Amino acid sequence: MTTWSLGFSSGPYQVSTSEVPDVSEHMSFLEMLDVLNESLIAKGEDPVAFDHDCREGICGMCGFMMNGKAHGGLPRTTVCQLHMRHFKNGSELYLEPWRAKAFPLVKDLAANRGALDRVIAAGGFITAPTGSAPEANAVPVGKVDSDMAMDAAACIGCGACVAACPNAAAALFTGAKIFHLGQLPQGQPERDRRALAMVQQLKLEHFGNCTSIGECLAACPKEIQMEVIVRMNHDYLKAWVRERS
Ligand code: SF4
Ligand code: FES
Repeated sequence: MTTWSLGFSSGPYQVSTSEVPDVSEHMSFLEMLDVLNESLIAKGEDPVAFDHDCREGICGMCGFMMNGKAHGGLPRTTVCQLHMRHFKNGSELYLEPWRAKAFPLVKDLAANRGALDRVIAAGGFITAPTGSAPEANAVPVGKVDSDMAMDAAACIGCGACVAACPNAAAALFTGAKIFHLGQLPQGQPERDRRALAMVQQLKLEHFGNCTSIGECLAACPKEIQMEVIVRMNHDYLKAWVRERS
């Protein structure tokens, strides 16, 4: 069992620290925060706010910076998949929420990522009749296309790409959504409208512009590739020209 020192920074000049005793190396990082919060509540203090849900790397709810690295910096790993053994025993860890104009701070480590939901609502869907599901194999999809669509669909909407980007752009996230639907036959009817609407929504939500720095790629726990941004730009430009011709 080890005592850990945690620093929390919710604003440029606000840093608080907490000691968490009796932490086992087998605890997950979020279990360690649970222990901290139980002790804070027992003392009549406010617990540290942080988002989480599945704790299995699936839902995209967790996420904050650890010592300046999104999700702690371990490849292919979300915050909820980290364990205390991934860190040097008893070292100091500084935790910060995602910082971006489009992600207003809620409290402590929790930022409001509703802007990503609104980008999806703008066009990240297909139109399909409901009530009578079509036969799954009625529309054949090639193996290469389905694999590429699945790779892009792995995006969990965590927002790490935005937090890591010096421009606070959401190009990797939006590109992943546009790519995965645009790669499938079912996604073709709305392909132009989707690209125009989702890119327009990025502007309305005050995300920055992508300048191909690539920090998002290093931060993404699902290894979404730059190719999705290229496709987004391609689809947007093509749709923009079509709309005007
Ligand atoms: S692209 Fe990666 S980092 Fe960005 S929201 Fe999706 S999973 Fe998270
Ligand atoms: S809590 Fe669901 S991905 Fe981390």
